[in-house]
Amino acid sequence: MKLRTTRFLPHALWIAALTLGSAVACSSGSYLSPQSLATSDGGTGEGSTIDTGDPFDNPIAGISSTLLSQFYQGDSEFDLVLRPYDGLGPLYTRSSCGGCHSDGNRGPGLVQKMAIVGADGITPAADQSSFLPFGNTEHPLVVTDIPGVKTPVLPPDFDGGVDGGPAPNLRVTIRLGPPVLGRGYMEAILDSEILRMESEQASRPDGIHGHVNHLAFASHPNPDPTYDSHQTGDEVIGRFGLKARIVTLDEFTADALQGDMGVTSPMRPTEIANPDGITDDLKPGVDLTADEMNVRAMYLRLLAIPKRDTTSEGKALFEQAKCNVCHAESLKTRADYPIPELANIDAPVFTDMLLHDMGDTLSDSVAGGNEGQAGPRDWRTAPLVGLRFDRVFLHDGRAATIEDAIKMHDGPGSEASGSVQLFNALSATDQQTLLTYVHAL
Ligand code: HEC
Ligand code: HEC
Repeated sequence: MKLRTTRFLPHALWIAALTLGSAVACSSGSYLSPQSLATSDGGTGEGSTIDTGDPFDNPIAGISSTLLSQFYQGDSEFDLVLRPYDGLGPLYTRSSCGGCHSDGNRGPGLVQKMAIVGADGITPAADQSSFLPFGNTEHPLVVTDIPGVKTPVLPPDFDGGVDGGPAPNLRVTIRLGPPVLGRGYMEAILDSEILRMESEQASRPDGIHGHVNHLAFASHPNPDPTYDSHQTGDEVIGRFGLKARIVTLDEFTADALQGDMGVTSPMRPTEIANPDGITDDLKPGVDLTADEMNVRAMYLRLLAIPKRDTTSEGKALFEQAKCNVCHAESLKTRADYPIPELANIDAPVFTDMLLHDMGDTLSDSVAGGNEGQAGPRDWRTAPLVGLRFDRVFLHDGRAATIEDAIKMHDGPGSEASGSVQLFNALSATDQQTLLTYVHAL
């Protein structure tokens, strides 16, 4: 599904389209047709395509014909709009992966997070679950064809207080579907490299101290262990998601199917808890086979990093401003990763895969839940891959340009403040050279 015109929306219009998308989603209690979803995405008109073809939704060069056919099959499954009879629901947010990762890029679909906060509007309250019994993720749409389903998970209305007490403060934040380009490289990276980044940063005098999100593997084992042989409960290093809460791309696929689409699969065979207590949908049992789950993960694994045209001047400035401390230019991959093109290489991902305290301004007030050791102000260093294909930046799209995104690294308490000061101290020409470099990554 190519929603190309959305890439050319000016920022204000883009945000309006996003807001409209979620407003449409929230106001409707029933299943939305793909047409209405497409309209809420900001239009589907073809015509304003990039002349040079498709420069990013591409497979890694040189892969075998078997992998190539998995890539194309996965690409179409990724964009496939699932229906109630495919197992969609009982609750969902969008009905295809591509609805939130259009052509592998950011948005237009999004997820809203809810948090109970203190009087300052930022600090999470100790008690979240009494007020948010179905968790901190909104699930705005319901499939009304399923008997008994009527109640989405929306931000509660606390007017008048709860049980006679004062009304708690609710904060709602956005997470845009991030770009998924180059994520196979990130899956192939050695655990020891991520641990090395953490220990190297621990001794820095400038306050940049990323940390690993250590987790217990929270999914059922993949019936096909080729790429993922983890058992439930294994101690693992989180890599994926904006707060590095998921271990592998097949696990992310299962998590997204379950949480964003209400579609069950072998690694996540149960529907999410919901207010009506519904445990199945119009497709009885587990909705997708292991192959249907894994082929979507193969598409993610095989998505290429778009061609980069960068200068050595830009690279030098990127290092001078200490951007590369967090946005590490490359990390080594495993020799036994099953995709030979990704095995035993320096993966040019521009992230250290670590969580960093980015300060109060970028905080989403989300604490606990399913994000392991990630706190409300922590974010995994965003991989800098294909940024020129995005129209908004940062986890919630608050930055309209790359320059804004850099300046927004500088909230109170952010580990990146010193780096922003170094950026600000550059001459206008050098700033431009650095921005051009980041744009081309
Ligand atoms: C409703 C919107 C939505 C849908 C539908 C959706 N995603 Fe996502 N996706 C997100 C958001 C938001 C995040 C960030 C999640 C987080 O940090 O908790 C994300 C993160 C990801 C990531 C991690 C990227 C990274 O940088 O670590 C992958 C991989 C991914 N999604 C794949 C999928 C797949 C595969 C599907 C379909 C089965 C899918 N998504 C469906 C919104 C969506
Ligand atoms: C302390 C670690 C750290 C340093 C230093 C740092 N960044 Fe970041 N960067 C992050 C994190 C974490 C995010 C994700 C924040 C979010 O989404 O809210 C991010 C996000 C970004 C984004 C947005 C990417 C996207 O996909 O939206 C850009 C662009 C970026 N950084 C560029 C830079 C540049 C250029 C520098 C140097 C001037 C720099 N960063 C320094 C940690 C860092």
